Amino acid sequence: MKIFIDTADVTEIREAHAWGIVDGVTTNPSLVAKSGRSLESVINEICTIVDGPISAEVVSVDAPGMVEEGERLAAIQANVVVKVPMIPAGLKATKILSGRGIPVNVTLIFSPAQALLAAKAGATYASPFVGRLDDIAEDGMGLIAQIVRIYNNYDFPTRVLVASVRHPIHFVRAAELGAHVATCPFSVLQQIMKHPLTDVGLERFLADYHKATQR
Ligand code: E4P
Repeated sequence: MKIFIDTADVTEIREAHAWGIVDGVTTNPSLVAKSGRSLESVINEICTIVDGPISAEVVSVDAPGMVEEGERLAAIQANVVVKVPMIPAGLKATKILSGRGIPVNVTLIFSPAQALLAAKAGATYASPFVGRLDDIAEDGMGLIAQIVRIYNNYDFPTRVLVASVRHPIHFVRAAELGAHVATCPFSVLQQIMKHPLTDVGLERFLADYHKATQR
């Protein structure tokens, strides 16, 4: 499973990238707004850090606007993936952009039928939001299992990108279910790598070593 980091904060991206585990980056308009920077400037800088797919989301809600924005974003670097919302205009834009060789990530997917439509329109990635489904007492990971099964049934090349990951269980279940990508906030990446027995074990090793070398 590929690991993407879900942030527009370049300090977080630099740190996680230095751990050697970051395959790509996803951003969204809320994350870009939080960075206090323009979308173009932040995507430009992210491209200098990560040599993998970088999702940049359009803010237009009509197909011609999405295509125009998408082409502008895709021109920043070859690894930019244009992110469009799962609405009729988004599907139209997906068909046009993917037909022009520009990879598209269809976002805000909350049902298996939406994921099937995104794949049919030519999406490179489909982003189901697991955390937001859990928030309304629906089964986010159940949706991932359905989409993986449907895509496998018909050999769709579209990659299942698990989004709205809130905790390590989402991450582990995504890998067990065969999702292609999980995009995680920096805080979740920190949680994933931690285990209390690792910390206790290291503390003991170092204490024993220093005791012996002080003798
Ligand atoms: C995905 O690409 C989105 O940026 C993101 O995962 C949304 O997560 P949230 O539901 O925690 O805002």
